[in-house]
Amino acid sequence: MVNIHKFSGGVYQAPVVGQQNYHKEGPPFVFLMMRLNVKAALLILCGAVLLITLTLWSRCDLGSREWLRQGRENTDRGSEIQGAEEIDCDVNGEYSIGCRREGDEVYIPFSFLHKYFEVYGKLAVYDGLERFEWSHSYGRIYHPKGKYDPKGVFMYFENYNVEVRERVKCVSAIEGVPISTQWESQGYYYPTQVAQFGLSHYSKNLTEPEPRRKILEDGEKETSKWVVPDGASISRIYSEKANSHVLQFSTSDVYTDGVKLKLDHVLDFVMSVHILLNGNSSFSVILQNREKKDLYHLHYIASDILITAQDRNIYHGLGVSIGWRRLTRDLIVDLQKGLSYLEKDKSKHKLPRSKIKVVGIVLRGYGAIDNLTLSSSEHIKQFYDAANWFVKYQDEGTGGWPNPVRRRIAVGFQDLEPGWYSAMGQGHAISVLARAYHHSGGDSKYLDAALAGLKPFRVPSWQGGVLATFFNKFHWYEEYPTKPASFVLNGFIYSLLGLYDLMTIAPNKAKEAELLFDEGMNSLKNMLLLYDMGSGTSYDLRHVTLGIAPNLARWDYHATHVNQLLLLSTIDNEPLFGETAERWIAYMTGKRAAHN
Ligand SMILES: *[C@@H]1O[C@H](CO)[C@@H](O)[C@H](O)[C@H]1NC(C)=O
Ligand SMILES: *[C@@H]1O[C@H](CO)[C@@H](O)[C@H](O)[C@H]1NC(C)=O
Ligand SMILES: *[C@@H]1O[C@H](CO)[C@@H](O)[C@H](O)[C@H]1NC(C)=O
Repeated sequence: MVNIHKFSGGVYQAPVVGQQNYHKEGPPFVFLMMRLNVKAALLILCGAVLLITLTLWSRCDLGSREWLRQGRENTDRGSEIQGAEEIDCDVNGEYSIGCRREGDEVYIPFSFLHKYFEVYGKLAVYDGLERFEWSHSYGRIYHPKGKYDPKGVFMYFENYNVEVRERVKCVSAIEGVPISTQWESQGYYYPTQVAQFGLSHYSKNLTEPEPRRKILEDGEKETSKWVVPDGASISRIYSEKANSHVLQFSTSDVYTDGVKLKLDHVLDFVMSVHILLNGNSSFSVILQNREKKDLYHLHYIASDILITAQDRNIYHGLGVSIGWRRLTRDLIVDLQKGLSYLEKDKSKHKLPRSKIKVVGIVLRGYGAIDNLTLSSSEHIKQFYDAANWFVKYQDEGTGGWPNPVRRRIAVGFQDLEPGWYSAMGQGHAISVLARAYHHSGGDSKYLDAALAGLKPFRVPSWQGGVLATFFNKFHWYEEYPTKPASFVLNGFIYSLLGLYDLMTIAPNKAKEAELLFDEGMNSLKNMLLLYDMGSGTSYDLRHVTLGIAPNLARWDYHATHVNQLLLLSTIDNEPLFGETAERWIAYMTGKRAAHN
């Protein structure tokens, strides 16, 4: 009847909070409810004292008068009976459901209320006592701890775990950034997602404890005992190119025997290595399931393939590039992505970190390595993988980062053709690049890319840019440059944050960003309340531009709206932001705007 997982056409990357990704799995308690079959749910829930008062019934205006009258008549008879009695409940004259009556009170199955009102509930035990917990929404509010600092954590992205999401096919070993399957199953680089990956690692670098790091090989001296089979050799030599001592290796058979390093390493699963590989050569890591003793082989090979797997062998391609490069891999992510590549049922193979250990490294073919480490994290390296991706893949002419997939937003909007730009993608990229400019101590390639990334903000969306104008008056940066305009709220605010980041980090060089930000903020202040639906918010303004029903924001998007306003209220003293955020927070516990 009511589709609780309605897709609202957004690209919102839901936060992973306590390892539960609300966007994908939905709130866990909803699932709890769904798993119970209707009868069981009815029994359990009627048992759990769940009082639906007549007050609520009539407040919700559900044609209650007739029902009320019947309820009273029944009460007279019911008072003679001990305990609950079955009673039919007629819903708006449309259908009926089985309810319970006990004296004056009527009990409605929660499974019905859940679907009817889209409210959530679960049974929980506290101090040995069972109780039923009702909640109106599942969004999460983050109250900013202080004024937003563009050099600091981005929003609350330290909670994000972009690469573990199911719609991430894998992290490319060529670029070190995620590949999305959200809108095309073979996978593509989705600028918004690449940026969120970068911003989450930048943010984690600032919030997480210092990493543990163990050096396994640095080419200088013998830190590790490599086992060299017949016909193979290793040597620690000075490399002019790398300006460093490196470990060179050569094996006769690239398919079986390799130069091997035995390890017994737990806990730290982020590997970093400088590597040079000839064709047909590979760098492999062997992992073991500590309980079942199964071995898994992660092979990084000189190839253009993205990811492939066979038996317990998982292959990531490093590209066929020539020359040294740095490889940073979260081995657990690579293992999980490989296993889900093998198994179409993704949930089957969730091997937790605690169950895995690294038992070996094998070098095959011909190549060299240096600076091989295992760490608890390498956030800044992963952040720079994202920042460098944006420098490398920006369109020189337009300054845009194209979305290489066709996208249908909704009936009524023209499809977006592959190559479209998103204000959210541009803004997020600028947030990454501004931080890279700051963190690198002023490397101009990051600033130049960020400044060029402003160009699509001045180009109308119907001409390939991201600019829409509301009623010929207010400039708006479109997450989806649709025809007609869609005015998606969260993507617009993310784009404003990108502009703010750049103008704050490079104040004298980014006047253009400041102009765009000021115009955008003016539009936001004037248009914000168009999104207020009195009990929630709308995701976009299709109800205005398409003349159809509003596209109501799911609770996680609604919470994003609130979180964005709370953040904006720390950098702009416009009271509208804070006041509106408070009202929108209240909607999340069922409060509504007053009626006449
Ligand atoms: C954060 O990055 C700095 C380098 O900028 C590094 O020294 C530090 O160890 C990193 N901390 C974490 C938690 O990643
Ligand atoms: C290994 O790290 C050192 C120190 O950061 C660096 O000088 C050297 O160039 C690195 N090796 C390679 C092959 O890049
Ligand atoms: C890889 O191996 C195949 C088969 O042994 C050989 O034909 C090919 O030339 C090799 N490629 C490179 C780049 O060494």
